[in-house]
Amino acid sequence: MGRMASVVPTEALIYAPAGMEAILLVGGLGTRLRPLTDEVPKPMLPVAGVPLVVHQIARARAAGVDHVVLATSYRAQVFADALGDGSWLGVSIDYAVEEEPLGTGGAIRNAARYLGDDPVLVFNGDVIDGHDIAAQVGLHIDRHADATLYLTTVDDARPYGCVPTDGTGRVTAFHEKMPEPVSDQVNAGCYVLQRAVIDGIPAGRAVSVERETFPGLLADGRLVLGAVDAAYWRDLGTPEAYVQGCADVVLGLVDAPARPGPAAQSLVLAGAEVSPSAVLCGGTSVGAGCVIGDRARVDGSVLFDGATVESDAVVRASAVGQKARVGARAVLDSVIVPDGMDVPADARPSVGSRLTAR
Ligand code: GTP
Repeated sequence: MGRMASVVPTEALIYAPAGMEAILLVGGLGTRLRPLTDEVPKPMLPVAGVPLVVHQIARARAAGVDHVVLATSYRAQVFADALGDGSWLGVSIDYAVEEEPLGTGGAIRNAARYLGDDPVLVFNGDVIDGHDIAAQVGLHIDRHADATLYLTTVDDARPYGCVPTDGTGRVTAFHEKMPEPVSDQVNAGCYVLQRAVIDGIPAGRAVSVERETFPGLLADGRLVLGAVDAAYWRDLGTPEAYVQGCADVVLGLVDAPARPGPAAQSLVLAGAEVSPSAVLCGGTSVGAGCVIGDRARVDGSVLFDGATVESDAVVRASAVGQKARVGARAVLDSVIVPDGMDVPADARPSVGSRLTAR
């Protein structure tokens, strides 16, 4: 699939009452996803045939957002080239470009000059989820909150900072990662913020909204709410999570109005050639112009545009970059193959490896 998909079928998008504004934070370097993010920023990587950020815009639009500000920095032009003024997605898009990344809080402050005075939705650009955005906004407005954070619950909160709430839903603390987390609730990367909160973020320097702005609100006694939602949620920041998240969208485990086809074991974009004896399963996506040979098996994997998987190869839980080739009988398990790489016939790179060009 194209790293920059050109078309999202508009009939797949749900119309909703217009009027809200949103900031999408998409300026991070995506270092954990290298080499896939060497040329393409993480929010522009394909997820079930369309860029990750297009899924988010489609969900935001379905919840009533009609104006989006993309807070960009790393490879900013890639977004503008692919998304333009947003009209093809049913929203208007402005671009707030940071010369140097300003962190999540600084990015929000920098983007605010494009927005009005009403509460603003803010989305991290690397999450796929199915939470009820309208319910989150409704909670924020009903309770006259200063900030309302979407929180999700996880089995193991140790890799995350945790965000406990009291019986009224009020956030009581923001904890950094800890060996024995005091709550299973974690920040899921979508906020509703009062305009005054945004104006209170210092301008012109890097600020982390998670580490500085939110704890500062609590210290000042402002009302910060948690909207706990148990819907599907995945942060696609690591290679394993990216590949799994793509498969989940193809399989239909999460509501994704921008998915260009019905939920299925695989999604094959136009122009791919798949041998009738090949097996595609586990939510595999096959990009435009891919070629898949006889008896090849591709399971739960992402094949970027123009990738080739030769006969009898096995590709599982892996990402194969643009125009890369997996040779005959090679076996890949949880492997990242960069753009253009040739994996020789019969190769068996170690499980979980990231191949690099020599
Ligand atoms: P890693 O380098 O792999 O940690 O990824 P990342 O750079 O994307 O960082 P992280 O996952 O923490 O970022 C969460 C979200 O915030 C992502 O959607 C980023 O694009 C975005 N983000 C992070 N830092 C900045 C920044 O300085 N400016 C802007 N505009 N967005 C940012």
